[in-house]
Amino acid sequence: MKNGRKIEYIKIPDLTYGNVLEEAKIVWPPGSKSDPHDHRKSTGHIWILEGAIYQKVYDKKTKKFIKLSIYDVGELIIETPDIIHIMGNASLIEFAVTKHIYSPPLRMKYYKLPELKK
Ligand SMILES: [Fe+2]
Repeated sequence: MKNGRKIEYIKIPDLTYGNVLEEAKIVWPPGSKSDPHDHRKSTGHIWILEGAIYQKVYDKKTKKFIKLSIYDVGELIIETPDIIHIMGNASLIEFAVTKHIYSPPLRMKYYKLPELKK
């Protein structure tokens, strides 16, 4: 559990290229969200399986979260290694479920909001 979210991780060998992929399924209770974080060297592909997910992207120049996007079932979010963002369940009533694939396996750094304003 992380901020009320249920997260299941599975490491998958990529037999073609010899890498390891990481798969995660996250169940987002209504109104739950992640802390601000990056993904170090990982690129992530996130599919919305149930509900709706919002994403706020941090802008390093203005030192603010400037972009808000909302994703519905079937949509894909691509997380690049340089991104710092917050993700959350866009609904205060319904659960959301997402499936994540990361390569290389995810190593996240979490940020405190005051740290991002410096
Ligand atoms: Fe993320």
